[in-house]
Amino acid sequence: YSACLIGVPSSKGQRRSGVEHGPEILRKHGIVKKLRKFNNVVDSGNIRVVEDIADDFEGNVKNPRTVGANNERIRDAVKESLKKYRPVISLGGDHSMAIGTISGSATFLGKAPVVIWVDAHADINPPELSPSGNLHGTPLSFLLKELDSSRIALPGFEWCDSQIAAKDIAFIGLRDVDPTELDIIKNHGIKAFDMNDIDRLGISRVLSECLDSTDPNGTRDIHLSFDVDALDPSLTPATGTPVRGGLFKEEGEFICSELARTGRLLAVDMVEVNPLLSDADGTTRTCEAAISLLQHCVGKRASPPFEREDKYV
Ligand code: ARG
Ligand code: MN
Ligand code: MN
Ligand code: MN
Repeated sequence: YSACLIGVPSSKGQRRSGVEHGPEILRKHGIVKKLRKFNNVVDSGNIRVVEDIADDFEGNVKNPRTVGANNERIRDAVKESLKKYRPVISLGGDHSMAIGTISGSATFLGKAPVVIWVDAHADINPPELSPSGNLHGTPLSFLLKELDSSRIALPGFEWCDSQIAAKDIAFIGLRDVDPTELDIIKNHGIKAFDMNDIDRLGISRVLSECLDSTDPNGTRDIHLSFDVDALDPSLTPATGTPVRGGLFKEEGEFICSELARTGRLLAVDMVEVNPLLSDADGTTRTCEAAISLLQHCVGKRASPPFEREDKYV
């Protein structure tokens, strides 16, 4: 298979301007050429996002009509691309776009993929309970079947159907989780490894446990949703909601390379690169980190796993 890139210049899932420039800044830093060292890559250009819908708050939720309409397009684009390419790589854009990308993967397969969610945040707030009202903190709540009975109808999301079960999801890198999110993770038994778990167990064991729980037979297709804020802010400063104490680059790269090595990496999201939130050097470091992660998604092999403590000396 060739891989393909889809740019998703969406920003209305959060409030800071600049994240819509994620795809173009990654291209400017040579993403296509750098990925082609490892696999054939087709750049499908950007999705045309809607910006002109009359939109506003619905209750506490910001811009649901815009985010909903965009995600329907994103779902269709990912689903179409999966007929020809693998992995289909969606470049964000804010993380609300994962409603569309994961729906695209599930619609293409006709069943749920495994979802590996690498992020400082759990992004599973039910929108009406979100402390911020920003939809980039909510995508998994739209996708989770177990929340069907409590989900409220939001304008813009009439097309959306939950297609993922709690047992299909695993989190890696969490360190800023809201109380409601923690309740959902606990109540539904979603596999979750926070930074502490990674310190104690090491990334290799953490990833094995994620795959053992979501895919015990090693047969399922995998959707990787990677928020660049999962990495430590020293590596990816150009992002909207940085949280200190994140993953090392090598740990992120290990996740990507091991998932690629299964041969079942269906789709990847690389989200929340915002070139307006750092200086030129910080933006370049952020882009280089994101591109390196994606190189490992298309065949670059990571160096062998290491002890976290080694990195501190
Ligand atoms: N939990 C917070 C919220 O609901 C932060 C979410 C950050 N999400 C992200 N994709 N960066 O607003
Ligand atoms: Mn995040
Ligand atoms: Mn459903
Ligand atoms: Mn996120």
